[in-house]
Amino acid sequence: MANVTIIGAQWGDEGKGKVVDWLASRADIVVRFQGGHNAGHTLVVGNQTYKLSLLPSGVVNGKLGIIGNGVVVDPHALLAEIERVSAQGLKVTPETLRIAENAPLILPLHAALDSAREAARGDRKIGTTGRGIGPAYEDKVARRAIRVCDLAEPDTLAAKLDELLLHHNTLLAGLGAATFDKDSLLAELLRLAPRLLPYAEPVWERLAQAKAKGKKILFEGAQAVMLDVDHGTYPFVTSSNTVASTAGSGSGMGPDAAGRVLGIAKAYCTRVGAGPFPTELDDETGRLLGERGHEFGTVTGRKRRCGWFDAALVRQAVKVGGIQGLALTKLDVLDGFKELKLCTGYTINGEAYSYLPAAMGAQARARPVYESLEGWSGSTRGARSWADLPAAAIKYVKRIEELVEAPVTLLSTSPERDDTILMQDPFAS
Ligand code: GDP
Ligand code: IMO
Ligand code: MG
Repeated sequence: MANVTIIGAQWGDEGKGKVVDWLASRADIVVRFQGGHNAGHTLVVGNQTYKLSLLPSGVVNGKLGIIGNGVVVDPHALLAEIERVSAQGLKVTPETLRIAENAPLILPLHAALDSAREAARGDRKIGTTGRGIGPAYEDKVARRAIRVCDLAEPDTLAAKLDELLLHHNTLLAGLGAATFDKDSLLAELLRLAPRLLPYAEPVWERLAQAKAKGKKILFEGAQAVMLDVDHGTYPFVTSSNTVASTAGSGSGMGPDAAGRVLGIAKAYCTRVGAGPFPTELDDETGRLLGERGHEFGTVTGRKRRCGWFDAALVRQAVKVGGIQGLALTKLDVLDGFKELKLCTGYTINGEAYSYLPAAMGAQARARPVYESLEGWSGSTRGARSWADLPAAAIKYVKRIEELVEAPVTLLSTSPERDDTILMQDPFAS
């Protein structure tokens, strides 16, 4: 199978968008299979910067984009994003974008519930993006979601809204938040329907045809393994499965859909929102990483927490995520550091661990075990070949390969599309 799946190997924002955009030139179709507009991907091509949330990053390369059934779709966010990128000269039409007819919708009540719940959690909040992602996935699993296809059936829509509002208005009222009115929601959805329905189809059928013709499909993951609802740092996670095996179920293809799996990791580590982060640095080094890496969220503008590369965490992500090769990004941000540290495992209550156990208390108490490496004085910024890298940078990458038990097959040395070093083409293997 000539497919490739890209997933995040840390807590998100690893540079998946840049890598997907770069690899898209080798693919025929780019497919989003989970998450929603909680994702934020920044792509830099020449003097243009594109910020994408819901649209598959292949749109910049003019590739057919598919939003699979595993994605939760906010119609307002999608239409606004289409308008925004169209103004930048990209072509997004029903010819270039297809949306699974069975994808669940995010409605304004989901964001309202997301925010009301976070407020109620007080200092135990998750730090969600506030986009309604969790409540929308809950509705899907609870079998009361409104899906893209329902927009074509006003009677179905009205009946489903009754069930949905019974649930949501009860919760919202209980949380002291404003409730929603059925008639205005129905009118709003019927107004949006003619703009959304031209994109809708059974995408599983198109993908089956593409498979039969030997087309190359690039699956674009959002978030990351450590935010996976099963395998991540629960409950400080997102509400979807982010691991590569979701590519099949989230698009309507079989279990072999994923093909070659490339995990993306920063050469250090960041996290937005609350939750455990054993290698987090609250000192000058952490501040410097954030400043040099421009570590502010694409979606919410929040400052990202920064720390050393956690090889134990990425090793775990490699195993549970099905990662076969690693793309290491933002190596340039480490230029000039005298000493670099890699976390090889943890101590928890005096006991040694080679992985992060599942229990919340243990995760909060995990202390990193480090090994030190020498930094480099030269620059890696913009390097486009292995030969351009300082010896100590090569040593750092090689040590990461050993510790995470996966080969580093791609390196990224600046936000710019072409500042990328490919050691092994994932489509060729
Ligand atoms: P994603 O969510 O995984 O797609 O990542 P984001 O786009 O949210 O965050 C990654 C940020 O790092 C973006 O602003 C990218 O432009 C930038 N970036 C990606 N690769 C590199 C790199 O190799 N070096 C530097 N300095 N920045 C990078
Ligand atoms: P990309 O695709 C980084 C985090 C939020 C929060 C948690 C739950 O750009 O890598 P949610 O709104 O999903 O219910 O929030 O997950 N989060 C992300 N962090 N990058 C993302 O996406 C994220 N999407 C969600 O900050 O901690
Ligand atoms: Mg991001």
